[in-house]
Amino acid sequence: MLTELQKAELTNLHGLFSHTPWGKFMCDFDRWERDTERRLLQLELHGPPTLSIWDLGCGLPYFVHACQQRGHQAYGVDYGGYLPRHAAELMGVPFYGMAISLDNPFPREMVQPNLVTMYGMNLWENGKRWGWPEYEQYAGLVMERLTPGGRLVIEPNRGEETDFVLDAEHWNSVLQNASATVLDGQALVIQKAT
Ligand SMILES: C[S@@+](CC[C@H](N)C(=O)[O-])C[C@H]1O[C@@H](n2cnc3c(N)ncnc32)[C@H](O)[C@@H]1O
Repeated sequence: MLTELQKAELTNLHGLFSHTPWGKFMCDFDRWERDTERRLLQLELHGPPTLSIWDLGCGLPYFVHACQQRGHQAYGVDYGGYLPRHAAELMGVPFYGMAISLDNPFPREMVQPNLVTMYGMNLWENGKRWGWPEYEQYAGLVMERLTPGGRLVIEPNRGEETDFVLDAEHWNSVLQNASATVLDGQALVIQKAT
């Protein structure tokens, strides 16, 4: 949980952005707390073992903060804009500002993570939304970095990506040394073999 002081400071920060279309969505404490709790439960992150967790496209890094509070080593990655960067500072979580792409897929510091999460990211390459080839290539790059038994979680926004990203059967037909499942009909989990 955030302290009351952190909440007050974040509320001030939210105020600076509430007029923007995405500001309203990003600044909803209740929604963040609800989503964070659900994710912690789904991925069994409430207790040990201590994991190295990278949340890509973290937005305001509430999930990263919650993981850190439960003893994990957690890092947030998002575009390096003022809002996520400053929110990360207020929450005291490590933050990497970068535009994720196939050429520049994650920070070089992301070495041997146990868990990589991508919640609600719409990814684009050369002016086009990512399709199967891009997701497959990206998953392959993450698999190379994960520890044995490590997990990549992709929860797409509702919309065109949902159908194929959540197609575990397809993933299982293309993955090697990993297996895919879908959690609660909303998040794809790819687990690297041990
Ligand atoms: C819909 S928000 C979701 C935020 C958070 N993960 C959540 O589930 O609430 C998508 C986030 O992904 C970030 N994002 C999208 N594409 C990105 C990219 N190529 N590189 C870095 N961040 C990206 C956006 O800046 C935004 O914060």
